[in-house]
Amino acid sequence: MIRDEPLVLGIETSCDETGVGIVRGHTLLADAIASSVDQHARFGGVVPEVASRAHLEAMAPTVERALSDAGIAFGDVDAFAVTAGPGLPGALMVGVAAAKAYALSLGKPLYGVNHLAAHVCVDQLEHGPLPKPCVAMLVSGGHSSLLLVPDVAGDVRSLGTTVDDAAGEAFDKVARVLDLGFPGGRIIDRMARDGDPAAIAFPRGKYKDGTYDFSFSGLKTAVARWVEARERAGDPVPVADVAASFQEAVVDVLTQKALKVCKDNGVGDLLIGGGVAANSRLRALAAERCEAAGVRLRVPRPKLCTDNGAMVAALGSELVASGAAPSDLRLPADSSLPVESIML
Ligand code: KG4
Ligand code: ZN
Repeated sequence: MIRDEPLVLGIETSCDETGVGIVRGHTLLADAIASSVDQHARFGGVVPEVASRAHLEAMAPTVERALSDAGIAFGDVDAFAVTAGPGLPGALMVGVAAAKAYALSLGKPLYGVNHLAAHVCVDQLEHGPLPKPCVAMLVSGGHSSLLLVPDVAGDVRSLGTTVDDAAGEAFDKVARVLDLGFPGGRIIDRMARDGDPAAIAFPRGKYKDGTYDFSFSGLKTAVARWVEARERAGDPVPVADVAASFQEAVVDVLTQKALKVCKDNGVGDLLIGGGVAANSRLRALAAERCEAAGVRLRVPRPKLCTDNGAMVAALGSELVASGAAPSDLRLPADSSLPVESIML
């Protein structure tokens, strides 16, 4: 760690995690999280109003915890970064308003950053500077994107996205069909270890259509129909086999498309991020296929894959290092901020 690199505090509130991270350069000093996920579980999905209220309550204590974990005083922070979008409008607004207040009260610059670029940038905290260019596949409850990233602080291009459900959303919906609880990704991952991924041939949407787009809603419906048919016939549902076969269909398509982007663009480095990147089968299949294709794979550790404040601080730090001008303090929260807008 270089002592004179600026100390950046990042705030993330785009969904149900209140995250506050502190970094100096590429060094992670604190990554405090407060999650409202338990409050959403009985609804089977994130309830925006509940998330916003939880952010309000968690903001100040989470900032204090991050400062204490990093062993720094509030006045030591050199710059603030906050997720300006995309995400839930009310939830984003809480983080943006808090960050403005902190920046204004300390007279420090504020960087309103893109949540997706932050998911890419966080890997620098674990594996060092990102290769330029690299391909990034972001898969979470809110997004499934394939990005070409010549420079995470200056040039991020969208090549493909989901045309319906996000990958994590498909995991969550299938978990609901199987009565496994919310959020379902981690549970399906665990159940699938005891199942046969080849037991049921679920459809692989957009598998070989030549585009870089994904579609998961047909797969989700196919799983629901298959389970209903078993139940109607009075047969037991082989939950582990369904979980494993569904998961295999998702990760097969994801890895196939990601490697196609690498090949077509002559890029030798693939990064996978977002909550679904915590999936053990995705990690294993990606590693296997990357090795066969001669592509280097980077996947941050699971805690850095799911939403967190460290990723926002990491991108803020990168923007400061690149000499980018800070955001105007009138910056809005933009719930549909396009991925190409790295900062606002
Ligand atoms: O990045 P994230 O924390 O929040 C969003 O921005 O959405 O991702 C949460 C999503 C949820 O849909 C969750 O089910 C999924 O990531 N997820 C997983 C796993 N862990 C979390 N999906 C598959 N396998 C996992 N191990
Ligand atoms: Zn996310």
